[in-house]
Formats: sequence, C-alpha cells, structure tokens
Amino acid sequence: MRVRPMDGDGLRLVEQWLAADPVGGAIFGGFYGHAVARWTPLLEAPSRHGWLTSDDEGAVGFIDLEILDGEAEVTYYVSPARRRQGLGRTTIAQVVTLATDKGARQIHAAVEPTNTASLAVLRTAGFTELSENEFGELEFRLDLNA
Ligand SMILES: CC(C)(COP(=O)(O)OP(=O)(O)OC[C@H]1O[C@@H](n2cnc3c(N)ncnc32)[C@H](O)[C@@H]1OP(=O)(O)O)[C@@H](O)C(=O)NCCC(=O)NCCS
Repeated sequence: MRVRPMDGDGLRLVEQWLAADPVGGAIFGGFYGHAVARWTPLLEAPSRHGWLTSDDEGAVGFIDLEILDGEAEVTYYVSPARRRQGLGRTTIAQVVTLATDKGARQIHAAVEPTNTASLAVLRTAGFTELSENEFGELEFRLDLNA
C-alpha cells in the first residue's frame, strides 16, 4: 500500500466516496462528506496529518491522524468498492508506521460497537479495548515501541 499527503484532488475523492457510501456516511459523513470545506482548514495545523492510500489497482481510502503530545487519534477508511479484501488490515498497519514515523507513542481509536469491520481490524492489529466513551463508542489504544 502507498500513501500520499492529502491534497485537493484527494479531498474531492473523499467527498465522492462518502456521497455514495451509506455505511461511511452514517459514521462520519457530516465531516468527511464535506472534506473540502471541513478537513482542509484542520490539515493546516502541524498536529494534523491526512493521507490518501492506494495500491496497484488505484485509490483505496484515507487516513486521518491527529498527534498531540505523542498521542495519536486515528480515523481510517476503505472505499466501498475495495472493502473485504484485507485492505482495512493493510491500512491499520500503515497507520502504525505513519504514527511511529511522526513520533507518536500511542494510537487511539473510537469505534461504534456495531462497526464489526472496524472492531475486527483493530482487535487483530493488537489494539487494547478500553471502556466506552461518553458517545457510546468503544475506545481502543495501541502502545508503540518508538
Ligand atoms: C472498517 C473498514 C476500514 C474495514 O475495511 P476492509 O477493507 O473491509 O477490512 P478488511 O477486508 O481488512 O477486513 C477486516 C476484518 O473485518 C471483517 N469485516 C469486514 N467487513 C465486515 C462487515 N461488513 N461485517 C463483518 N465483518 C466484516 C473481515 O471479515 C475481516 O475479519 P476476518 O479477517 O476476521 O474475517 C471499512 O469497512 C470502512 O472504511 N468502513 C467505514 C469507515 C470506518 O468504519 N472506519 C473506521 C472508524 S475510525
């Protein structure tokens, strides 16, 4: 899997994916469905990093990382046409590499308890399941050996 920093074309692609994706749209369509307007200004912060992922078949999805004081918060996405081919697992492995490269010591993720695919991805990547947060999401954490 390859990654390249998020740019205008990538942001428009993210919006196209979310517009045609009821699953992703229900989870975070309010933000990434309006990526050009909402994500662009956040990417200007030194703590925020976005990447478009791809492989030999083309664009796969995206990674959004915010790293503050060595603590990384991740959101990741595989576009609907590319799901269930192991790319979620590949994406989270890429997240670990990117977060380590950026100096993070821990990665955090919050997932709806009904999001079976994301739960499977995080559990098999070795994330530890913590308690529910105030929004009813399950919190996960991975300690990095940076
Ligand atoms: C979560 C997501 C990234 C998984 O991507 P993916 O490429 O389909 O994942 P994989 O093919 O690597 O599958 C990983 C595991 O999830 C399981 N899985 C995938 N989709 C599933 C589904 N709809 N229902 C049940 N299990 C599912 C797979 O079977 C696999 O587990 P297994 O190896 O034990 O069989 C993708 O579904 C997605 O982008 N969803 C919308 C956004 C999202 O939820 N992001 C994470 C929140 S931060």
